[in-house]
Amino acid sequence: MTNPEISSVLKEKRVFPPPAEFAAAAHVGSMERYRELYRRSIDDPEGFFGDVARELHWHAPWNKVLDWQLPFAKWFVGGKTNLAFNCLDRHLGTWRKNKAAIIWEGEPGEVRTLTYLQLHAEVCKFANALSALGLKTGDTVAIYMPMVPELPIALLACARLGVGHSVVFGGFSAEALRERINDCEAKAVITADGGFRKGSTFALKASVDDAIKDCPSIRHCVVLKRTGQDVAWSAGRDHWWHDLTAKQSARHEAPALDAETLLFILYTSGTTGKPKGIVHTTGGYMVGTYLSAKLVFDLKDDDVYWCTADVGWVTGHSYIVYGPLLNGATVVMYEGAPNVPHPGRFWEIVERHRVTVFYTAPTALRTFVRWGDEHPNRFDLSSLRLLGTVGEPINPEAWMWYHRVIGKERCPIVDTWWQTETGSIMITPLPGATPTKPGSGTLPFFGVEPDVVDATGKSVKPNEGGFLVLKRPWPSMLRTIYKNPERFKEGYWKRFPGFYFAGDGARRDEDGYFWIMGRVDDVINVSGHRLSTMEVESALVSHRKVAEAAVVARPDDVKGQAIVAFVTPKQGMQADDDLRTELRGHVVKEIGALARPDDIRFTDALPKTRSGKIMRRLLRDIAAGQAISGDTSTLEDYSILARLRTDDDE
Ligand code: WT7
Repeated sequence: MTNPEISSVLKEKRVFPPPAEFAAAAHVGSMERYRELYRRSIDDPEGFFGDVARELHWHAPWNKVLDWQLPFAKWFVGGKTNLAFNCLDRHLGTWRKNKAAIIWEGEPGEVRTLTYLQLHAEVCKFANALSALGLKTGDTVAIYMPMVPELPIALLACARLGVGHSVVFGGFSAEALRERINDCEAKAVITADGGFRKGSTFALKASVDDAIKDCPSIRHCVVLKRTGQDVAWSAGRDHWWHDLTAKQSARHEAPALDAETLLFILYTSGTTGKPKGIVHTTGGYMVGTYLSAKLVFDLKDDDVYWCTADVGWVTGHSYIVYGPLLNGATVVMYEGAPNVPHPGRFWEIVERHRVTVFYTAPTALRTFVRWGDEHPNRFDLSSLRLLGTVGEPINPEAWMWYHRVIGKERCPIVDTWWQTETGSIMITPLPGATPTKPGSGTLPFFGVEPDVVDATGKSVKPNEGGFLVLKRPWPSMLRTIYKNPERFKEGYWKRFPGFYFAGDGARRDEDGYFWIMGRVDDVINVSGHRLSTMEVESALVSHRKVAEAAVVARPDDVKGQAIVAFVTPKQGMQADDDLRTELRGHVVKEIGALARPDDIRFTDALPKTRSGKIMRRLLRDIAAGQAISGDTSTLEDYSILARLRTDDDE
């Protein structure tokens, strides 16, 4: 089968070998070394990952590295460990106890530094406070916070107790929070009064109050005072963070937790309306994020590492909190927007803290390109030695800008492909070894066996487009979908029996390099975040004036993809700009600002097949302003296309 959506057009020929000085000092310093390690990780994965795991602390050893009952994996079976102990206590016996663990900048400009010893004390106090509220191993809590140090502290305290955390990005609405709390039956929610963003404050506690009116599982709400704004208070249920922790000891013995203890649930979009609760467990995730953070970011003790993601996404879980701290790294964390108080804020932060490793998203880079080179050029970026990107395919122009304007043609760029589900980086250059090509994620990380297959599951030839699959289990893989193993099997393992199907299209070139070509399902990627078209559609249809809606993506220079909604209003409703504004506001309320449609087009009917399926393929062409490509023979009513086109010209 040829899939017209994933035919590849990109032809990029430039190759950038790692600079010799970089390679000489790198953890993995040549392609020979990469190949040797990769070979072992594939031929003897249990030996390979067993050795990696032994670099960390285990309260008790495992009996078996991997138990694989397709598609259910258990790693380090029977082993006992504690992820927070490995992130913190393990460093306290070394000189690192007084090393900066987190250097945090608030948007208004304050700077706070927590050493490993200080971070450990805060985590212990908060773990004691959570225990005092009655939370224990096996429970779940929701975390809905701004980007302040207490956010990683909350994650680490949960990890320490074996309490599963479900972080909900602070930009999500009360509705979205409620749905996620109810799905995982969280017993507590950890939040703040509000946060600072884009030069003003936003409220979080108010959304929590709204959400948990209908969350029967919630017993406690812990509130960090960040902005000082007024909050409503429910005595007995609500507790100030500072009150709870004031009396707690800064000592806490990290319990020995089974390797497969639930670590976190993180909700992500699938093709149906309901977000999927991706489940990660302790031991395998620990080993995967430890090794990938070390080798992909080439972390050394004198590095100052900054990942600009929000902890509300998996990137923040794995590469702000767990991976870097497992490696004893110094992590920079920034609370706010990149253009407050000026468009050079990120570069100012790089200069101020002498950041050496910088990890961001293509959408951010395209924004910086638009803002102009004068902003980065005003700051001293000479501390940088390595750059990374994640979240969506990076267009070669943005890659070259990153290379030239930020990296001054001296810093390798690691384009890292992975997903919420994979837990850690799967396809990536190793910066001291892999020659890079702008726009390619290059080669598999250790223990990862990707392939590009056709609809029948057969490998395609070099440079042919196909579906990206992973052909064997890896330590940080998702274990299931929370309380929904059937959806886990259906969603990831059914289409290509025996393989994990990631939902992305890809091609592999003549050098074996992977080029990711985006999603092949009804999931769109806006600013590096996955959104289900279905979720946006159900939000639209829940509005009393809407009869039907179809949502598609159109290419966007900055966001990667923009959201276009085709909406059929109910009979008698005025299809005008007021309704557009109302609908945009409605989607923001239901899901959050990240799902706000860029374009709303009214239509009296949607193009459907005779069986009633909306033909999104056609809508995508219309949204992109392109001629309709592909087959229209199954279309029920041709005149709709003409009518949609006319609307387009208005
Ligand atoms: C989807 C996963 C993993 C962190 C952020 C997003 C796309 C991610 C790349 C990349 C091309 C990429 C894929 C993937 N994606 N990184 N380097 N090159 N595409 O996590 O929300 O789980 O989304 O993001 O489409 O499937 P996520």
